[in-house]
Amino acid sequence: MTSTITHIEELRKLAKRRVPRMFYDYADSGSWTESTYRANEEDFQKILFRQRILINMENRSTATTMVDVPVSMPVAIAPTGLTGMQHADGEILAARAAKEFGIPFTLSTMSICSLEDVAKATNRHPFWFQLYVMKDRDFIERLIDRAKAANCSALVLTLDLQILGQRHKDIKNGLSAPPKLTIANMLNIATKPRWARGMLKTKRRSFGNIVGHVDGVTDMSRLSEWTASQFDPALSWDDVEWIKKRWGGKLILKGIMDVDDARLAADSGADALIVSNHGGRQLDGAESSIHALPAIVDAVGDRIEVHMDGGIRSGQDVLKARALGAKGCYIGRAFLYGLGAMGQAGVTRALEIIHNELDLSMAFCGHTDIETVDRNILLPGTYPTA
Ligand code: FNR
Repeated sequence: MTSTITHIEELRKLAKRRVPRMFYDYADSGSWTESTYRANEEDFQKILFRQRILINMENRSTATTMVDVPVSMPVAIAPTGLTGMQHADGEILAARAAKEFGIPFTLSTMSICSLEDVAKATNRHPFWFQLYVMKDRDFIERLIDRAKAANCSALVLTLDLQILGQRHKDIKNGLSAPPKLTIANMLNIATKPRWARGMLKTKRRSFGNIVGHVDGVTDMSRLSEWTASQFDPALSWDDVEWIKKRWGGKLILKGIMDVDDARLAADSGADALIVSNHGGRQLDGAESSIHALPAIVDAVGDRIEVHMDGGIRSGQDVLKARALGAKGCYIGRAFLYGLGAMGQAGVTRALEIIHNELDLSMAFCGHTDIETVDRNILLPGTYPTA
């Protein structure tokens, strides 16, 4: 079955059939008009390659590093909340697929499987942890300590969610984990028997990093109140400095879209920044990530490693981002669709598809080593410049 699936769009369609509407919509949506969500993908299509011929294409390699971690291709799994609701034990399955593929898996603060669950299920293979800085700083300190204990090898600090962008579908669907058993939800879940069977077999149905780790947060209604009140609109660069000291390891700053912010990120001494608009889920009307990338690379690329995410649905997108200076990329929906469609095998299939497209497209552009790829593989005038 998996080998007949040959591109990410097929995984998306299958996920749409298999995942309850509330969670499928949560993944496949952006904020307000979704214009930034769409632009993330569409702007990749505008960039054209220069096809080259009669260059020896044998012995190709897509291997490189991201913050000094060896990766089989310049791709990591992006942190996504509620991943264990796309498929039972979703974070564990995606972490295993990433481990086998030789790329980093990033666990979200808002995951269903906890830090400890993922560490145990992957035999303490290092993974990355994404942190949201909540107002409850004691909880954050404990979370950082738990990430260290779980053998996390980089901290991805998300800085673009001091407040929440509005997603119409989540409000209309009454998004929650576990889903509320309204008649509409039960009727919809009745049409997703694979998903329901998986969920009945697992105990992990709520936010694993939070429930049981915060005083008074024992059930779903308390949890919703707590999280809604915890995102911190007053977050500042001083907090970044504090987290950097407290963590003491590799630090990646996520959610940078502006050259001025990129300069501050480089000044902070972090190891990398991620050009990201949160997959079009926060400020609708912001430019696409691939559009913002070149100016940021030109401004700070010599001082800090630049990564990007947003709209990557193929290995060709990875190649374009790499050509424009991103040392690595992250995939959100592309892996979530695979997970919702077929669990671990679906994530593996998504990674295989992206790798295959990256490898072949690189060769068509006349390169056999990802390390030598630069802007010269792109047709001038078709890509954004600083
Ligand atoms: C996200 N994203 C995200 N980012 C983050 O730092 N912490 C999180 O918990 C989440 N949660 C989340 C849930 C879902 C369903 C999606 C789709 C995205 C943003 C994510 O890390 C990444 O920036 C985008 O997903 C990249 O865009 P693509 O690849 O999905 O187009």
